Amino acid sequence: MTQLQALYAELQKFFQPLWPGEDKPLVLGEGNEKSPKLMLIGEAPGETEVIKRRPFVGKAGKNLDEFLSLMEMKREEIFISNVVKIRPTEVGPTGRTRNRAPNKEELALFTPWLMKEISIVQPKVLVTLGNVPLKALVNPKITIGDCHGTFMESKASIPLYALYHPASIIYRRALLPVYQGDVLGLKEALLETK
Ligand code: URA
Repeated sequence: MTQLQALYAELQKFFQPLWPGEDKPLVLGEGNEKSPKLMLIGEAPGETEVIKRRPFVGKAGKNLDEFLSLMEMKREEIFISNVVKIRPTEVGPTGRTRNRAPNKEELALFTPWLMKEISIVQPKVLVTLGNVPLKALVNPKITIGDCHGTFMESKASIPLYALYHPASIIYRRALLPVYQGDVLGLKEALLETK
């Protein structure tokens, strides 16, 4: 059993009894767990991710493909995970279950596990997608609009590069060229540190 498998076994044991009677499957990280160039960290899995039990395979996964193609990287080269590893849901006005942002309790429960995950994977650079992982790994006061496309110090003592969340680009098309410029900035910075 690898160190990461052992961590995930411990995590499952911790979370399984927490929400009795509720179906909250865990979606764990995947990819190159041996000191990859990048570890991509999202907010939480959505509906498709829960069905497939894999991070970033739904709509946001399509944007991930664009990220990888701009970076000229393959999905298997990097490690991909989320801060919160269950799908946070609420019932909307039409009675349909929909995604919601993770709440304080979920963030407090899951962030220490993310820190352990990072310390096992040991990526060269952490790439956060959107505000949720950024706030968890830098500080709760920072916002993505102020620091996207820049490197920062993280609580994990690994350089962190902030990107907008792919889903925010689906809703705000004007962000697309900004996001693409930020990704190319990351690519250049990685080339320089080779
Ligand atoms: N899918 C994920 O796995 N994470 C996100 O943050 C969004 C979609």
